[in-house]
Amino acid sequence: MAIVVSHDDVKASRRSRIHEDGNFVALTHFIVACPERGLDAQAMLVEEGPHRNLRTHYHDQDEFQVFVAGGGTNGKHPIQPFQLHYARKHTPYGPILASEAGCVFLTLRSRSDNGAKFLPESRALLDGVQDRHPWQVGADIVFPEAGTGVAMQAVPGVRDEHGLDASAVRLAPGASLRAPSPADSDGQYLVVLRGGMMHQGLERKAITIVFLQPADEAFELVAGSEGLDALILNLPRQASVPVAAPSEKHADFKVWQCLLCAFVYDEAAGLEEEGIAPGTRWEDVPESFTCSDCGAGKADFVMLEF
Ligand SMILES: [Fe+2]
Repeated sequence: MAIVVSHDDVKASRRSRIHEDGNFVALTHFIVACPERGLDAQAMLVEEGPHRNLRTHYHDQDEFQVFVAGGGTNGKHPIQPFQLHYARKHTPYGPILASEAGCVFLTLRSRSDNGAKFLPESRALLDGVQDRHPWQVGADIVFPEAGTGVAMQAVPGVRDEHGLDASAVRLAPGASLRAPSPADSDGQYLVVLRGGMMHQGLERKAITIVFLQPADEAFELVAGSEGLDALILNLPRQASVPVAAPSEKHADFKVWQCLLCAFVYDEAAGLEEEGIAPGTRWEDVPESFTCSDCGAGKADFVMLEF
């Protein structure tokens, strides 16, 4: 059965503390695992205080993160609302460095994780993981214009062959949408980020989270009086994932991949945001280069063979 939890339901459970680095962090749990109900999902709102540095780390479960307020950087990528980040289990990401305004995000998993494993101290543990297929992807979320009806569009790039999927939907006031079935996933989240949704006769304001197990029926999303903007997020089925080889490359140029998180440096393409011109050979990339997604150094990159 669908689990529906609004921020209003759980905000009293918010717990804040001053982290050992002197910065503020707060957690509000929306969904916690409940084995008696066959529920292993985990959904929480994380508030990182100004300038908090959440160091590069990985988890043992796949996860979505939805950046909902504040700003900063995730790895070398600027954070702004609303953005989606997906990381497969055992894929290092970060550091997440909060701006002056702090950084607020949702973490959504279909299986509970027992805590962040930080690098470099968990490097040996990471190296010992068998059958590891690191991969992550980030995307800005654009909600489509819906006029007086319903509009839905895929979030680009957030897709794999095991059912990973993400869509942005906008519903006008009173409009409704039957969400895609969660059957082809390991669990589906519907995340209302603006406006509100109707549920059991009540309007549930953003942020409201709906979680569906694969066996649940497709959810009927009904907008409240202000309409709504929501994400529909399918976590991928648990399966061994073949490492996807990047498509055709120029024969003369090599492709280098971060061993830790699978970030790819393509000599043909360079890395414009780092000022590395197209055609720059790996040996000419500065020794100070670090991975855009996880901060690993050049020594942690290997050449991909095709
Ligand atoms: Fe990396």
